[in-house]
Amino acid sequence: MNGQVALITGAGRGIGAAAAGALARQGCKVAVWDRHHDVADLVVRTILDEGGDAIAVYGSVAVSADVSAAVGKTLDRYGTVHVLVNNAGFGIEAPVWKLTDEQWASVLDVNLTGSFYCIRAVVPSMIEQRYGRIVNISSRAHMGDGHKAAYASAKAGILGLTRTCAIELGQYDITVNAIAPGMVRTERVLAQPQYAALNERAQARQLIKRPGTVEDIVNGILFYASPASGFVTGDTLYITGGRMG
Ligand SMILES: NC(=O)c1ccc[n+]([C@@H]2O[C@H](COP(=O)([O-])OP(=O)(O)OC[C@H]3O[C@@H](n4cnc5c(N)ncnc54)[C@H](O)[C@@H]3O)[C@@H](O)[C@H]2O)c1
Repeated sequence: MNGQVALITGAGRGIGAAAAGALARQGCKVAVWDRHHDVADLVVRTILDEGGDAIAVYGSVAVSADVSAAVGKTLDRYGTVHVLVNNAGFGIEAPVWKLTDEQWASVLDVNLTGSFYCIRAVVPSMIEQRYGRIVNISSRAHMGDGHKAAYASAKAGILGLTRTCAIELGQYDITVNAIAPGMVRTERVLAQPQYAALNERAQARQLIKRPGTVEDIVNGILFYASPASGFVTGDTLYITGGRMG
């Protein structure tokens, strides 16, 4: 992937930060996007220290003007985008009848609308070069999970967005795929007060009896982001340890 340009949202920590480092090691020039400047800057510094090429871009994926600015900065610096990883996301856990309008909207805005904004912003340069790889991070929760109505709805929406974009963009050799991770040990997940119980439940339902790691997810991202996956589109890769239910 030498010389390709990769834009990764939510890349200041967790899965996104690991994907940014891995793509940089594959030779990509990486735009590390996070709404928190300090964490994005730190990831960029690490990539530069390892001899890679990266810039930080800031703002919220849920704000259309921020998306224009972040993609504009990436295009100004690197000229185009070959790989977009729509990774920024979060959930709010509450029974569906207690979710507020604001909570529902914030989860849909970042996970789903943010992915749409980013795709819309990068696709013109991908069409022009007749090449692109779009990787959308969904979740196994898209199948439905207790107290995750907004999150599950947003992540299910991402699969509809993925397949629709695949249909529209295949003619330009742009592939669009999704990854549905199971439970992965990131700072966000480890910080949950109920982590131990969630981990126990996840592993009881998994076929592979260990916690998921960011590397497990990054391996899938690297496949969909690379030229090697050029005949795969509209697809969803479940990286869940074979979790059932
Ligand atoms: N960790 C898991 O178990 C798990 C499981 C399934 C799916 N996922 C999905 O994987 C993705 C990454 O998860 P993670 O656990 O690494 O999360 P994380 O919270 O560790 O990292 C997410 C990053 O995204 C950034 N971000 C959040 N909102 C943003 C916005 N509006 N604009 C720009 N940046 C924003 C945050 O600042 C943070 O640095 C998410 O989409 C999540 O839903 C994670």
